[in-house]
Amino acid sequence: MIRLQKFLANAGVASRRGAEKIIAEGRVSVNDQIIREMGVQIDENYDVVKLDGEIIKHAEKKVYIMLNKPVGFITTVSDDKGRPTVMELVSDISSRIYPVGRLDYDTEGLLLLTNDGDLTFRITHPKHDIAKTYVAEVTGDVSMDTIIQLRRGVMLDGQKTSPAEVEVVGATQYGTKIEITIHEGRNRQVRRMFEALGCVVKKLKRTKEAGLTLGHLPVGKWRKLSESEVNMLKKIEAVSSSKSKSVISQGRKSVKPFSRNTNRKNTPKRGR
Ligand code: URA
Repeated sequence: MIRLQKFLANAGVASRRGAEKIIAEGRVSVNDQIIREMGVQIDENYDVVKLDGEIIKHAEKKVYIMLNKPVGFITTVSDDKGRPTVMELVSDISSRIYPVGRLDYDTEGLLLLTNDGDLTFRITHPKHDIAKTYVAEVTGDVSMDTIIQLRRGVMLDGQKTSPAEVEVVGATQYGTKIEITIHEGRNRQVRRMFEALGCVVKKLKRTKEAGLTLGHLPVGKWRKLSESEVNMLKKIEAVSSSKSKSVISQGRKSVKPFSRNTNRKNTPKRGR
């Protein structure tokens, strides 16, 4: 149950004080009964509230969560082929949330889910240049020449990928561990960038997106974003429209010439 004036304010109809005024003016009805007194409680799920005869929809509380998606789940709300979807991993959230963008079936890592359509639009719209960081485990050794080509851009579908930040961060049983930050969201982009240069990605994990970091969240688990994380995401529009770069776009670096100590072949740098 919620007070009528709070319901109207939450729905964006007016401020709390403004809502009291329009109630007093007799413009608001609950289940077709005009209400003029303050303090009436309504049930948002059952009562029909109208302002000047128009139904006011209740504003659903916004939910923002981060999931560490395991391999073997698809990032859709449902799947006609019956494959497991990420929604099965967040079934204890009652709001109708959905994934923000995509992570491939065979990719692990940071996936946002929300019921905030505006935020989803801002994060997924190409013009916002949102930075996404992945750690790729690639077979064999990766030459400095390959790293430089990844940084400068690789031709995919006749179009060069935009500059990326790329570093060797370690070695694995398969070969080389590489951290790559891209600013686009083309289909299977990271895998295809490596493939185009003759490298096979054995494992791919997204570790950062839009200034958020996966941290130590276990695979298959989720957590609500903190207030400061949500506030940071809400700044995306302001950041992009002022054309400045921030933590969200991670201050895309220009492609720097490689330094002497990174110009060695097959020498993974550990513990970045
Ligand atoms: N790039 C890929 O290749 N796969 C993903 O899931 C995300 C980025």
